[in-house]
Amino acid sequence: MLDLAAYFARINEILDRHLLNHLNASVAGSRLFEAMRHSLMAGGKRLRPNLCIAACEAVGGDSKKVFPLACAIEMIHTYSLIHDDLPAMDDDQLRRGKPTCHVAFDEATAILAGDALLTLAFQILASLETERPEQALEIIRIIASAAGPAGMVQGQMLDMQSEGQTLTSAELQALHALKTGAMIEAALVTGAMLGGGNTAQIDAIRDYGRAIGLAFQVVDDVLNVEGNPAVMGKAAGTDQVRRKNSYPALLSLEKSKEFAQNLIRTAGEALIGFEHEADALRAIARYVIERNK
Ligand code: IPE
Ligand code: IPE
Ligand code: MG
Ligand code: MG
Repeated sequence: MLDLAAYFARINEILDRHLLNHLNASVAGSRLFEAMRHSLMAGGKRLRPNLCIAACEAVGGDSKKVFPLACAIEMIHTYSLIHDDLPAMDDDQLRRGKPTCHVAFDEATAILAGDALLTLAFQILASLETERPEQALEIIRIIASAAGPAGMVQGQMLDMQSEGQTLTSAELQALHALKTGAMIEAALVTGAMLGGGNTAQIDAIRDYGRAIGLAFQVVDDVLNVEGNPAVMGKAAGTDQVRRKNSYPALLSLEKSKEFAQNLIRTAGEALIGFEHEADALRAIARYVIERNK
């Protein structure tokens, strides 16, 4: 069985080096740089870039080619966390075990650090090396769509708009799919595309991504109820305080865990056409429901 902790450690060491190089090449030494680095290098799990790389490997691709794409995805994710934590949004003080960006710096700097990470991500994507130029454009379109008003930003809007209201289970599922699922799915699909996957492989990886993307946010909701803030590096109990819609509030803790488990089964089934090259994806699916941070 694949040793996932060792896999993450190996990939994350390379990712961290690439991420810092990209930052240094942009605004080294400035206050903006310090704020971007504070959040980006704070020790996130790096799930999305690891998924991107694992998807590339699952289709037999060379993961070395995928690091710029994986870095761009992690920058977009980190920007979304910086803005998610702002006083006007979830108003959180702790993230990745460190003071949130607006607490460590100030609100204006945190807004701008988020803007800068998002923009830098697309600068990196614009230099993506692909065999066909059209493929780079297709990848950029998929990432933009997942991050923007058809994806994560709209999910965040719905999350804010529905505080204090009770969504139906279909509405909550749609919200989570946009807020969290879209970027996870895009990381996987674009990793598989850059790895040279064929249509059937990419479709299977998309199905896997849809299932683990939703499961990931269901587990985030569960951890918000019963997780340990010291382990997670962020506060717990906040969804209830802010009257957020969440799976435990909708279904109960037990049913939420069952739901996540079923989604992980679905994710595994999506990979049946793959051999051992997809073992990292299989291990990550298990990790999504077993994680405690
Ligand atoms: C937190 O994402 C926000 C969600 C979309 C649930 P992660 O749990 O991946 O956060 P980091 O990157 O490890 O900090
Ligand atoms: C964050 O969702 C989702 C994005 C940043 C896109 P949450 O607000 O539920 O996540 P945490 O619990 O703060 O990490
Ligand atoms: Mg939020
Ligand atoms: Mg939040």
